[in-house]
Amino acid sequence: MADDRFQTPEAQALRTHQTAIARLHLRDLLVDPSRPGSMTFTAGPLTIDFSRMLGDTTTLDLLESLAASLGVPQKLRAMVSGDVVNATEQRAALHTALRANRETQLSVDGADVMSDVTHTANAVSAYVEAVTSGARRGATDDRLTDVVVIGIGGSDLGPRMVTAATRSHHTGRVRLHFVANVDPAELDAALAPLDPTSTLVVVISKTFTTVETLANAAAARSWLLDSVGETGLPNHLCAVTTAVDAAAAFGVPADAVFGFRDWVGGRFSLSSAVGIGIEFAVGPSGMRSLRDGMRSVDDALLADPGQPNAAVLLGMLDIWYTQYFGTKTKAVIPYAQDLALLPSHLQQLQMESNGKSVTVDGQPVSWPTSPIVWGAPGTNGQHAFFQLLHQGTNLVPVDFIGVPSISGSERADLLQANLLAQAAALSLGRTAADLRASGADESLIPHKEMPGNRPSTLIWLPDLSPFSVGALVALYEHATAVAGFAWGVNPFDQWGVERGKELASDLLPAVAGGIVPDGTDASTAASLQHLRRP
Ligand code: F6P
Repeated sequence: MADDRFQTPEAQALRTHQTAIARLHLRDLLVDPSRPGSMTFTAGPLTIDFSRMLGDTTTLDLLESLAASLGVPQKLRAMVSGDVVNATEQRAALHTALRANRETQLSVDGADVMSDVTHTANAVSAYVEAVTSGARRGATDDRLTDVVVIGIGGSDLGPRMVTAATRSHHTGRVRLHFVANVDPAELDAALAPLDPTSTLVVVISKTFTTVETLANAAAARSWLLDSVGETGLPNHLCAVTTAVDAAAAFGVPADAVFGFRDWVGGRFSLSSAVGIGIEFAVGPSGMRSLRDGMRSVDDALLADPGQPNAAVLLGMLDIWYTQYFGTKTKAVIPYAQDLALLPSHLQQLQMESNGKSVTVDGQPVSWPTSPIVWGAPGTNGQHAFFQLLHQGTNLVPVDFIGVPSISGSERADLLQANLLAQAAALSLGRTAADLRASGADESLIPHKEMPGNRPSTLIWLPDLSPFSVGALVALYEHATAVAGFAWGVNPFDQWGVERGKELASDLLPAVAGGIVPDGTDASTAASLQHLRRP
């Protein structure tokens, strides 16, 4: 039977409401002094200000009603309870267990998970402490001063982003170098200034089959081998994977292999041992604080049913804008340079989760699903793509991220002033009348007029501590799941990335100079020839 999820009374009520909202303009709505207070909510340490959205408190209520009608709260409860919510892989998606209170009772397939989660977290912390204190040293008894973390996708993006975001809270005991791309440039550049005798290589791969990661790991292993030899190698290798045997076969000593379970999705894994790079940077106490911040948002997720829920609303805004305003993309603009990698992490988290066109039941969707997520830090974006945001033909909802702790200097004040200015300019625009009143050249008015009514959400995190950054990550994890549940897709699988991996494997011999496989399409065959030209 066709899925009529957006034909329900709740969806129809929202559509009717949208026609009314479409006749309004934010420059009129933002006159109301009570609006920000009634459309701003908290989640853990975060403050989420929806007051610049296309809509009002009725909109928020209708979005919550739509979420309820689509079973979103039930699915969230199933997710945090360890039920199988990833139907195509028959797995739970219990990433919230990774930061749950240790006495929490949680199980998957009837088996307790918390003892394993706690054991692994403690083992990683002990290992990190041993390495960073110098108790655990290299093959030549040198301290391990540099940690090269090799991984890609969820085994890189989140950890790399959080490590960068928490820069002001690093212990400074080791230097971190993240490597993901199989392009030799990245690993070669990372290794060039390093001394193998004082370098630890950490291989992160949920499956331990990702070819880019294994190729980089092999190259790094060779680099180490030349200096420390086979007997010294174990002092310089660490791995995080569900495939513990594969890590052992690679030469990683058993006490430096840290596992995690298949119900931790790659893009949801940074609070697991996959976050070991973060822990090397902020220390075990910083990692505990990161998990505490994540838990503070987890706890808010299902705390007060019937009360406005920031994570649910943030997720449902994606439905509101794609389904009812026809938007195709969403920009994430952190006004904090240390959050520069947030858009990249959210691209995988949201687009790999919800960039799908069939429902969990395999039925084609007749509605839009994930928007294209993109972004860059402010103020840089203002000098790159904000022209389109202000006057382009595409309506692009913006998530601004603000960090009030960035203060105490004129430059910091400039940053904050620009954040507020851009949110205001997008909302209010500038009318021809305003321009005339300001004496603008009549011939330039059409070029200077700004439509405004361009929505944004302003997410405030108090500072860039592990606690606050963890809360931000968890907020978006839950908003992603909410949107996926609402769209009826499976937010936890990623079948669409498999074919490319297979084709690359098939083409590798031809790229290396071998024969072109029979049946290769004309463009690929021509491109292979192009690659071979001297
Ligand atoms: O992009 C596909 C993917 O499977 C992601 O979901 C995952 O985070 C990434 O590749 C890396 O996978 P692994 O951690 O198994 O190396």
